[in-house]
Amino acid sequence: MSADGNQAGEVAPAQRVDIFDTTLRDGEQSPGISLNVSEKVEIAQQLARLGVDVIEAGFPITSPGDFAAVEAIARGAEGPVVCGLARTHKADIDAAWNAIKDAERPRIHTFISTSDIHITHQLQTTREDVKGQARAAVALARSYADDVEFSPMDATRADVEFTAEVCAIAVEEGATVVNIPDTVGYTTPSEYAAYFRRLYELVPELAGVRTSVHCHDDLGLAVANSYAGVLAGARQVECAVNGIGERAGNCSLEEIVMLLRTRRDAHGLDTGANTRELARTSRMVSRFTGYAVQPNKAIVGRNAFAHESGIHQDGVLKERTTYEIMDATEIGLESNSIVLGKHSGRHALRDALEQLGFKVEGNALNQAFARFKEVADRKKQVTALDLEAIVSEGVRAGGERYELAWFEVEAGSRRPPHARVAVTTPAGEEMVGDASGDGPVDAILVAIQDATGVECELREYTVSAVTEGEDALGEVTVMLRAAGRLASGQGVATDILEASARAYVRALSSALEGAAIREAEALTAGAAAEPATPGP
Ligand code: KIV
Ligand code: ZN
Repeated sequence: MSADGNQAGEVAPAQRVDIFDTTLRDGEQSPGISLNVSEKVEIAQQLARLGVDVIEAGFPITSPGDFAAVEAIARGAEGPVVCGLARTHKADIDAAWNAIKDAERPRIHTFISTSDIHITHQLQTTREDVKGQARAAVALARSYADDVEFSPMDATRADVEFTAEVCAIAVEEGATVVNIPDTVGYTTPSEYAAYFRRLYELVPELAGVRTSVHCHDDLGLAVANSYAGVLAGARQVECAVNGIGERAGNCSLEEIVMLLRTRRDAHGLDTGANTRELARTSRMVSRFTGYAVQPNKAIVGRNAFAHESGIHQDGVLKERTTYEIMDATEIGLESNSIVLGKHSGRHALRDALEQLGFKVEGNALNQAFARFKEVADRKKQVTALDLEAIVSEGVRAGGERYELAWFEVEAGSRRPPHARVAVTTPAGEEMVGDASGDGPVDAILVAIQDATGVECELREYTVSAVTEGEDALGEVTVMLRAAGRLASGQGVATDILEASARAYVRALSSALEGAAIREAEALTAGAAAEPATPGP
């Protein structure tokens, strides 16, 4: 086992496993996640820095917003293949192609279920019709793109012989990748590997295309199943950062990447990922989605490299590899040396941001600088982690409808806390609200509802420190429901009351924005026949 020296080096083509990232498509299907176009583009740029092979940027037919995001990513991405998802319908495939056609390396991913459960109850059709739809869809997609992926959805609960027939049709029509989804997270590692072996026997033509795994985590087996599929011959893993996705989520990108890297000695396989970007990618996705990473999460959890027991601490101090199979620096958890202070100027900030991979210019730089100054006035040292939090907050704020103007709170142990809050509306009007609450945070949140006149139901509230130390920035993430939409928001400040207010106003704005977009889309579509969110 190589506990050290984990970076990839050269990987022979046959040993290379492609990383297909679906954070922006399957991941975005998680409840409460609604990313705006600039957030999606920022995540796609970070995925490119991480070195993923394919970015599944979205499902363009589902909404004009999704289409616009996929198009923007396709136009900007340098390096990875950019993929758009489509059912086997002509309109879906046309929309996917139109959204990705400007990409350096476009791919259409089309899917249809092969399980009888789905064919009978959801599609309400026949196996023959499924074969016909798969054939027509792959042929149409290939008439547009050289790179076409086909997925027989719910394959692991389907008859393998029938799935094989459908896959053979897809290959015959020119599919370049065949993906076998464990859509409902039902399979087990040995069963999944056997499924692949049987498919290879039944469809020898699969040897000429890339096969792929797509596993959901309903039984906590997504990574294990993906690994089993890869050992059985698949050379693409579909996964999402922090394992987000439908229901229990997808195979976690960071876990499969580090499994392949760390145990390369055991299987000889590897990916092209730059693992030093894993921690930052995880933090960015967590901030933008509002989905916190559990402390004990493998690879990127706060405690993944923490040693509590005295015996372990003693061992690690003497020799790191006694209790660590990976080096935290390989995941990008080392503390960056960037430190700015209140005397640092605009150039220093821009250089530091560039070193961190953020290209911030013009107005965005002015805004980032103003925020940086506010923070630096209250905090002695502004570190790389602080800058990352401030810039992410700026990206999230883009396009928002309401902004926190100011707030004041009276709190003590002798009477209920009371808050006054002013919120600026999109029209630039300042609205003031006031309220008492169970605690100062509660009073602020209720006062924001009073100011905006929007009723919200708070679903989640988390607070954490961006760095260690007494003057650490506090970061608050809020998930709430307003105007029928679930949305999240993030706020960063040296004062957690301010961070809470910022996060709450952002979540509220984002919910209202989502509701307005949905309303406008429904009007334009004239409540069209297609369901608003089709598919997987
Ligand atoms: O889970 C699933 O089956 C999917 C497909 C679209 C690949 O997400
Ligand atoms: Zn899926």
